[in-house]
Amino acid sequence: MSKEFKRTLITTALPYTNGPVHIGHLAGVYIPADIYARYLRLAGRPVVMIGGSDEHGVPITLKARAEGVTPQDIVDRYHALIKKSFEELGISFDIYSRTTSDIHSETASEFFRHLYDKGEFVEKTSEQLYDPQAKEFLADRYVTGECPHCHNPRAYGDQCEACGTSLNATDLINPKSAISNSPLELRPTHHWYMPLDKWEPALRQWILEGHKEWKSNVYGQCKSWLDMGLQPRAVSRDLSWGIPVPVEGAEGKVLYVWFDAPIGYISNTKELLPDSWEKWWKDPETRIINFIGKDNIVFHCIVFPAMLMAYGDGFQLPDNVPANEFLNLEGDKISTSRNWAVWLHEYLADFPGKQDVLRYVLTANAPETKDNDFTWRDFQARNNNELAAILGNFVNRVVILTHKYYNGVVPAAGELLDIDKTAYAELAGLRDSLTDNIENFHFREALKDAMGIARLGNKYLQDCEPWKVVKTDPERVKTVINVCTQICASIAVAMEPFMPFSSERLARTLGLGKLSWDMIGNADAVPAGTVLGAPELLFEKIDDDTIKAQTDRLERIKKENAVKAYQPEPVKAEINMPDFEKLDIRVGKVISCERVPKADKLLKFSIDDGTGTPRTIVSGIAQHYKPEELTGKQVCFIANLAPAKIRGVVSQGMILSALNADGSLKVISPASDATNGAQVK
Ligand code: 2FM
Ligand code: ZN
Repeated sequence: MSKEFKRTLITTALPYTNGPVHIGHLAGVYIPADIYARYLRLAGRPVVMIGGSDEHGVPITLKARAEGVTPQDIVDRYHALIKKSFEELGISFDIYSRTTSDIHSETASEFFRHLYDKGEFVEKTSEQLYDPQAKEFLADRYVTGECPHCHNPRAYGDQCEACGTSLNATDLINPKSAISNSPLELRPTHHWYMPLDKWEPALRQWILEGHKEWKSNVYGQCKSWLDMGLQPRAVSRDLSWGIPVPVEGAEGKVLYVWFDAPIGYISNTKELLPDSWEKWWKDPETRIINFIGKDNIVFHCIVFPAMLMAYGDGFQLPDNVPANEFLNLEGDKISTSRNWAVWLHEYLADFPGKQDVLRYVLTANAPETKDNDFTWRDFQARNNNELAAILGNFVNRVVILTHKYYNGVVPAAGELLDIDKTAYAELAGLRDSLTDNIENFHFREALKDAMGIARLGNKYLQDCEPWKVVKTDPERVKTVINVCTQICASIAVAMEPFMPFSSERLARTLGLGKLSWDMIGNADAVPAGTVLGAPELLFEKIDDDTIKAQTDRLERIKKENAVKAYQPEPVKAEINMPDFEKLDIRVGKVISCERVPKADKLLKFSIDDGTGTPRTIVSGIAQHYKPEELTGKQVCFIANLAPAKIRGVVSQGMILSALNADGSLKVISPASDATNGAQVK
């Protein structure tokens, strides 16, 4: 930190309320912000952490329309769900409010009106795509049509998901409304624009010169936006859902969601601290930190700062914007629309009492410098091999030994030997590194330091071997157990920002009162004579079945998505009747069916084809059917295919199957009984 600040205002991106929050949101924004806020509180530094729901924007109106309810119904539902699940995960917001609150709508309207009165907007009329049936202008995302590049018939106006090309809605062949399916018209409409070009020199100076210490992904993205040259951006939209533009003659127009949402940080601070909010926004001794995901960088580093500069009146710009990259799930991009996510509320229901495991895994694997992947196997391994085997195990051993040797009463330490002094010195080193890493938003590294304390404890205990020494030098054991107890206290404090639930349980067992950061490394954090609570396991192992239930769910979703996205293969070149008649397709009954040894994919069939001599056919469907599933069934097969030797068996034909969207094969059978040997015409 280049400058001493009196207080820190932490903002966290306001999640859209068109769905629940998932692990990508948590890893990118809320867990890092919570770690930082909890750390500052433990360090005794004034902090407020602002959160809330972002309740405007087109996706909410579309979801409402699809469900036949009002947008207010949608935001009420998801705001309640998101707020509750954040609470259950221990995200320690000082306020979690919403952008449909009165105070927000007043604050955002006043903000707009102030910029309007100062002449900070540019007004323009332009032609935009209009849906005459739905009676609304459409954002590019809500226009569909044929991709001009790959001819995917279902490309979106902003991007073709089949070939990945970025598009403008007007590039599409036969553009249609994604809402009503009707053809679109170009119509003129009037809007207010933030002239970002005007603020470009100030933004350049502020970021590129003044904040070279920002994370390279954030700095780099800002630099590339600035180097491309900034353009005016519309801050109003033609919509009915949102905060009305507070200007006469602006009927039917609302503030663009990205104009009002960041003002939500201010409204929510006002709601929390009606008498002192200005100090948190306008005093240069306040440090503002915006926690966001990488898709929000431009709005927090370019657009909102330009709005704040235009407003003036002492509003401070963020001191840092430690945006994260994206978290993927089992190798695929997380997607709300494809249900490819681990939803927080579902995790909380499926893993009761295991909030800290998720917090730990998402921090250990946080996408701080590059996109990262969440897998259920890694989740299990980190819980079993790190939390249970290292941290939980050390703490548990110490508490058990204290009960065994001293009835749970922490003994006083005698004279410290070199091994004890070295342990304290290493502990101090870990504390300093941990502090430094948190201060610099390197939470993954910080977590390694916190776990390093548990590793240190395990090694110290193992090296000191009190279970052996107790027979020869019982006085020495008192010192060892005392030192171990102090290490446990350091762990309780060091892990509080990361795993507050387990920290609280451990602190209770150790009889610690209010925790503070300076207790880490303190040789007297647990005074001798303290009676420890009963030993309890902080972390239990997670078994394979529990993980399989989660991976099975993802497999199911993957199949459902494949079916939804299925595009039939283009029809092959036309043939004539004589071509078709060359194929001799017949019906036959499976007399027997067995696996072909050493061939995973092959089944060997014996078929009654009506000739009286069973016909042998080898077919590559062993991964789709068990032999007994097809025995006794009628199938269709090509009878005049030249025989071929497959794994030493002569196959006399080919069984016909349909290849499904999800890659599965389904054998073709007559709809009702047919005669064996009957020709398929
Ligand atoms: O990306 C999003 O989910 C936005 N709702 C974030 C808004 S952040 C802030 F500006 F409110
Ligand atoms: Zn395409």
